[in-house]
Amino acid sequence: MQIYTRKKLNSFELSLTYDDISLVPTEVSEIKSRTQNRTAAEFLGEKINLPVLSSPMDSVTGIEMADKLGKLGCIGIVNRFDSSLKQLTGSEKYENIRAVSIGLNADDELIEKLVEGKYIICIDTANANNKTVLNKCEDIKRKHDVRIILGNVAQGDSLKRLVDAGADAVRIGIGGGSVCSTSIQTGIGLGQVSSLLDCYFSKEKYNLDIELIADGGIKNPGDVSKAIALGADVVMLGRMLAGTKEAPGEVIKYNDQLWKKYRGSASFGVKMKNEFIEGEETMIPYKGTVENVINAISDGLRSAMSYMNCLTLNQLREKDKFVILSYSSFQERLPKK
Ligand code: IMP
Repeated sequence: MQIYTRKKLNSFELSLTYDDISLVPTEVSEIKSRTQNRTAAEFLGEKINLPVLSSPMDSVTGIEMADKLGKLGCIGIVNRFDSSLKQLTGSEKYENIRAVSIGLNADDELIEKLVEGKYIICIDTANANNKTVLNKCEDIKRKHDVRIILGNVAQGDSLKRLVDAGADAVRIGIGGGSVCSTSIQTGIGLGQVSSLLDCYFSKEKYNLDIELIADGGIKNPGDVSKAIALGADVVMLGRMLAGTKEAPGEVIKYNDQLWKKYRGSASFGVKMKNEFIEGEETMIPYKGTVENVINAISDGLRSAMSYMNCLTLNQLREKDKFVILSYSSFQERLPKK
């Protein structure tokens, strides 16, 4: 069996995603307890306790979710589809909310208010490698002192263009989101691990000052550990945070079970018109408070760090030891009923 470094993984002949790989602990761990590890990080100058951002989707991040995640030491990015933005730009101050998303049609007045509020701005588009998106970023940066997240990209060759346009962080992943039908509808996209690695090496090669967000396809705490170990600065979560009490939307009782809606930003339910649809809508079991999910991620990441003999996230990134799983070894890893 071969142990792969990031570099070797990046030159693997097939496109890979989280279920294709695993971390390999090869050292005697000196970590005495999970409470010893530190999952703290900085994202765009903001101190966080856990490298987790919430996706700016209308069924994931409204005011309540962003506020709660802020209190838990993560960052929630308020969506641009419902009335949350309006609320945020009103007179009330939200100290725990650090990031908001806008569309390409956001006007100067809105942007000025968000800049005044010192929010990180996420320009929420399906493809950042696009003239209109890059021009919008450049335009905002020319007029304002503000941190900008741009997305999404699938490969690293576009990264330099994003940095030149003023992007401070990039959302990496096209086609990998759990309610994303982009790949099915268009034939576009590659595995999330390959996308992330391609961007990681592009950043390194051109010495780019941009933070990497692994966005989409993260299903469990183990995938969070993998993304961080691969070199992501933070992960962005949709489905893992959807269905919680703090996610926008009602709890529905159906077939004796509680559910909440989760839908793609390019789904029919969001667009409500006959545009090209690249997102699905689904119901997911109600999960209770988002604090439980965040604690589970924190525990999983700390435990991964203990196995890998790491005290910090940077040490986890430095280990650089992975294996590629055969389909049967992946199956073997799954708990059986
Ligand atoms: P998840 O965590 O796997 O559910 O993925 C969430 C990510 O999917 C988001 O952060 C977006 O990058 C992506 N996404 C959200 N809505 C859509 C859509 O309608 N089509 C394609 N991708 C989407």
